[in-house]
Amino acid sequence: MQITNLEEYAKTYRESVENPEEFWAKVASQFTWREKWEKVLDYNFSDYYSKWFINGKLNITENCLDRHLETKKDKEAIIWVANDPNEEDRRITYGELHQKVCEFAGVLKNHNVEKGDRICLYMPMVPELVIAVLACARIGAIHSVVFAGFSSNALASRIQDANAKVIITADGAFRGNKIIPLKAWVNDALDSCPGVESCIVLKRTQEEAEMKEGRDYWWEDEIKNAKPLFDAEVMDSEDPLFILYTSGSTGKPKGVLHSCGGYMVYTWYSFLNVFQYQEKDIYWCTADIGWITGHSYIVYGPLLAGATSVMFEGVPTYPDAGRFWKIVDRLGVNIFYTAPTAIRALMAKGLEYVNLYQLDSLKVLGTVGEPINSEAWHWYHTHIGKDRCPIVDTWWQTETGGIMISPLAGITPTKPTYATLPLPGIQPALVDNKGNEIQGNSVEGNLSIKFPWPSMIRTTYGDHERCKNTYFSTFKGYYFTGDGCKRDEEGYYRILGRVDDVINVSGHRLGTAEVENAINLHSSVIESAVVGYPHEIKGQGIYAFVICDLHKLENTSFEEVKKEIRDKVSEVIGAIAKPDKIQIVKGLPKTRSGKIMRRILRKIAEGDTTNLGDISTLLDPSIVESIKEGRISN
Ligand code: WT7
Repeated sequence: MQITNLEEYAKTYRESVENPEEFWAKVASQFTWREKWEKVLDYNFSDYYSKWFINGKLNITENCLDRHLETKKDKEAIIWVANDPNEEDRRITYGELHQKVCEFAGVLKNHNVEKGDRICLYMPMVPELVIAVLACARIGAIHSVVFAGFSSNALASRIQDANAKVIITADGAFRGNKIIPLKAWVNDALDSCPGVESCIVLKRTQEEAEMKEGRDYWWEDEIKNAKPLFDAEVMDSEDPLFILYTSGSTGKPKGVLHSCGGYMVYTWYSFLNVFQYQEKDIYWCTADIGWITGHSYIVYGPLLAGATSVMFEGVPTYPDAGRFWKIVDRLGVNIFYTAPTAIRALMAKGLEYVNLYQLDSLKVLGTVGEPINSEAWHWYHTHIGKDRCPIVDTWWQTETGGIMISPLAGITPTKPTYATLPLPGIQPALVDNKGNEIQGNSVEGNLSIKFPWPSMIRTTYGDHERCKNTYFSTFKGYYFTGDGCKRDEEGYYRILGRVDDVINVSGHRLGTAEVENAINLHSSVIESAVVGYPHEIKGQGIYAFVICDLHKLENTSFEEVKKEIRDKVSEVIGAIAKPDKIQIVKGLPKTRSGKIMRRILRKIAEGDTTNLGDISTLLDPSIVESIKEGRISN
C-alpha cells in the first residue's frame, strides 16, 4: 500500500478519485476485521453524514496490538524519554503494551465502564496515557483526552460537555523545570462535575494530592485489584472511537467525534505514505497526545503500522535548546515530525545547540500545525536535515483526523512553504466567497473538500446541527476547512492561514470569541476584541483591545489590570491563551449595527495602519485614531 514514486502517486490519485470505494476497500482489506463491511461508503454533504465500511466489525486495538504479536512481540512499540535527561528511558514492546492495555481495560471494567461511556484523560506525556487511550478503545469506551495545559475550568467544561463517567489523571506533570499540579486542578474541576464516578490517579511527580474517599483511586492499586481483560469489544465501524475538543469561531470549544473504522484506515494509510515509513525506522513525533497530531501520529498511525514510536515527556528547550537533537542522536531517530513554532524557537537559540550533534540518522523531516515560513523551512532543511532530508509540510485538522495535503517523503518534489499535493482519496477545491469552485491554477480561495474521506469528522458531540453549520453550510456541497489557500501554476497547494475568527498560537488553535469571553470575566472589563498578529516565534500572537470601567479601576494601575486580565485568561482557558499584548481603549471600531470591524483591529495590531480601508461606515470613525495612537508596538 506504499506508493514508491511520483508516477505511481499520480496513478493512485487518479484511481482514488475515479473509483473511491474500490480504492478505500483495497486499503481497508489490509486490516483485521471481525466481520467484513457490506458497503464502503454512504454520505450526504447537504444534510451531513458520512459512513464508512458500513456494518464492518472490528476493534482498532486488535489492529494496533494483537495483530503484531506473532511477528513483533519483542519489537519496541514505544520508546519513552523523560523530561529529566537523567531519568532512564522506558522501552515498551508490543507484547508488553498489549498486556498493559488489557490490564487497564480490566481496571476500567471494575469501574463499571461500558461501551459508549465517555472517559476523560488529563495526563502527562507518559506511556500510561497511551495505555489508557488504548484500554478505552479496547472496551469501546469513548476517550476524550484533554491537553494537560488547559486550566481546571476548561477541563470542567469538557468533562461536562461529554458527561464523562471516569477521569484518568496523574498527581502532577513535569514540563521543563516546572511541575504542573494536575490532581489539584482536577479536584477543582470535579467540584462542578458531579457526573464523574471515579478518578484514577497515576503517580508521576509525587506531588501531594488530596484524594477523595470513594471517588479517587491510585492507578497502581487498581492494577493490582483487576484481572486483565483480553477480549476486545467488537465495535461497529461507525461506533465512536474518541472525542477531541477544538476551538472554533464561537466561544465554546466543540467535541470533534471520530469513529473506529474510517479513522483506523486513514491514519495508517497516511502514516505509511507521507513519512514513507520503513520497518526498521525509529519514528518520533514531538506533539502532545492532547492534540490530534498525537492521537493520529504518536498513537494510532504508528502502532497500526507496527512502528517504534518515540514519546517525549518534556519540552524542546529543557535543559537546553539541544534537547531534541540529543535525543535524535541517542535513539537514532530516522523520521522526525514537529511544529514550525518549535523550529522557530530553536532557530532563535542559535546553531551552537545543533552543531554538537551528528543528526545523521535522520531521513525524513515533517512539520504540522501552522504555515511554516520560508526562513524556518530553510533552517530546518539545511541545519537539521543537512540538505538531504525531504521535509513533509503536512496540512490537516482535528476534524480531518489525518494528513490531507502533504508531500510524500522523497517522492513529491517539495517547495518551501507549500503543503504541495493532496493524498490519494482527498479531493480539495478552492471556492470563492459566493460558493463557486475556482478552476485552474494560479488561483486563491477558500480551501474546501468536495468528497468524503474515511477519517473525516462524524459529528460535534451532542450537537449535530453545529457540525452541519460549521463545516457544511458555508459552501453548499463542500466541507469547509476555514483556511485560505493558493494553488500555484503547478497545481501545488499553499495554505495561507485561517479566514475565520480562529487564531493559531504556537500551533494551538484558539477562537477569538473564546479569549474575549475569558477577558470579559474580569470585573473591570466592559468589552474586548481579540485578534491575531504575526509573531516571530509563535506564528501568531494574541492582541487584545479592552475597554475597562474606569470607575472600577480607581486604585489599580493599567499595568496591574493587564496582569489580572492575563491571569483571568489563564484561569479560564490555560496559559496558552494569555494575550501577548493588551491595549486599554476608549472604544472599539463598530459599525452602526454594532458589529466590531476586526479587519481594522487586525491591521492596527499588525502595525499596518497606512491603509485601513473604508472606515466611513463606522459609528465613530475618530475612535480609530485613538486606537492607532495607543498601539503597542513590541
Ligand atoms: C489548523 C488546524 C493538524 C494537526 C495540528 C493542528 C493549521 C495545520 C498546517 C500546515 C499551514 C496548517 C490550519 C488548520 N494548519 N497544518 N501544514 N500549514 N497551516 O490541528 O488544531 O485542528 O488546527 O491548523 O489553519 O485549519 P488543529
